[in-house]
Amino acid sequence: MREGKTDVLILAAGLGTRMKSRRAKVLHELAGSPLIAYVLRAALELAPEAAFTVVGYQADEVERAVRDEVKRGEQAGIAALTSGEQARMPALPSAESSTKLHFVRQLEQRGTGHAVMAARDQLEKRHGELLVLAGDAPLIKSETLKVLAETHRAEKNDATMLTVLMDDPTGYGRIIRNKDGSLLRCVEQKDGSPEELAIREVGVSIYCFNVDALLAALDHLTTDNAQGEYYLTDVPRIMQAHGKKVGLLLHSNAEEVLGVNTRIELADLERKLRESKLRELMLSGVTIIDPATTYIHRDVQIGQDSIIHPQVIIEGASRIGSGCVIQSWTRMKNVQIEDNVTVRNSSVIEDSVIRKGATVGPFARLRAGADIGEKAGIGNFVEVKKSKIGRGTKASHLTYLGNATLGERVNIGAGTVTCNYDGVRKNETIIEDDVKIGSDTMLVAPVRVGRGSKTAAGSVVTKDVPADSLVAGVPAVVKKKLK
Ligand code: UD1
Ligand code: CA
Repeated sequence: MREGKTDVLILAAGLGTRMKSRRAKVLHELAGSPLIAYVLRAALELAPEAAFTVVGYQADEVERAVRDEVKRGEQAGIAALTSGEQARMPALPSAESSTKLHFVRQLEQRGTGHAVMAARDQLEKRHGELLVLAGDAPLIKSETLKVLAETHRAEKNDATMLTVLMDDPTGYGRIIRNKDGSLLRCVEQKDGSPEELAIREVGVSIYCFNVDALLAALDHLTTDNAQGEYYLTDVPRIMQAHGKKVGLLLHSNAEEVLGVNTRIELADLERKLRESKLRELMLSGVTIIDPATTYIHRDVQIGQDSIIHPQVIIEGASRIGSGCVIQSWTRMKNVQIEDNVTVRNSSVIEDSVIRKGATVGPFARLRAGADIGEKAGIGNFVEVKKSKIGRGTKASHLTYLGNATLGERVNIGAGTVTCNYDGVRKNETIIEDDVKIGSDTMLVAPVRVGRGSKTAAGSVVTKDVPADSLVAGVPAVVKKKLK
């Protein structure tokens, strides 16, 4: 193992009984990402050589969540490099790729110590330092893990435990210290006497171990406790009994290491995370009119002087430029929005691009693959799917545009429909520059409307329209040339 390198191991095999759920606790989501994803990201920011995740309950799903998070981090890292504009935004950690992921199956969940035992075969080859983390404490910062590992090294410990003081320590393992401040033992909630349970210092399931000393201590673990489990919290005491050195690192920020055990705690962390994201955005120059009703997920980026109105939800890997206005009751996911875009009230937008100066909504629906050009206008009750809308083009009312490519300065009249689906295939509609589509036109795809042409109100266009022509009727035929 290289000097200064540390492996990580994440405990994520438990069901999480107190969640009262059929889903593994670490898969429950916080601001759109599973709990395990947060812990993993903090761990990977240290660029460890190896990251072990102990999985058991819903092992396949938890493993997939871990792999998805790594992929997401990599994609975000790459996206930040490919666009000059985006490169200014903070890139997500992309060190993931250098870390080797390992999954360890803990077939029966017999305690946190038992979870580490399950990794014995793989850990025996490592011999270095191992950071152990609980998969259910999502706010942990990589900075804190760094300090833990540094303290561990500086004090030449065999085990270093992170602890905090909790106003209400209920449910956590208490830290009993000797008079000289050294660790006497850890006592779980269910095993403690009233005097022990009055102690406010708790362990938070975050440790740094020398692997060899850890493995030796695991051999001495017993299930002689109220829960009949192998407690990882017994390991430091066992190490001490064998002459090993154990340190305690008291961390000042208790909120950062809170574990989620119930859905109440989950909602509590959701609120904390949301508030800190909104504060970060406001400090970077974004106006959030009503933080109490604004929901913005952790990876969303927003440029300076953009204004977010009350009751807006922005999710996924969305990037919004500067000078944008996002009005109320709008929900967006995975959107790329350039500068000076206005999204009016009650729009629903996902996996779409909106270019400089465009206006969308109110009541617009942009589905996957909508690409709205510069200064274009998409108005009320307009749905756009997998379509490119050219610069300055307007579709202001009651329209469906699917599998379509619209040129520049096109005007789409109210009630226009691209009839893209023939019952078997999705077909393309192409509308060239400067076309005017009359109200209530049906464009039966595949079909092309040539540059500068017009369709009369109520036309049903079943054949390509040549350039500079007026068509009308059902089916539409050329009535005259416009030039
Ligand atoms: C544990 C600690 C407790 C500490 C608290 C901090 C023990 C015995 N207790 O208690 O001292 O204050 O965390 O949050 O370690 N897990 C497995 N396999 C198992 C059991 C658990 O992988 O067999 C995983 C869980 O999925 C979870 C983590 O370990 O991610 C912690 O387990 P949990 O049951 O929540 O432990 P606590 O009772 O909170
Ligand atoms: Ca816990």
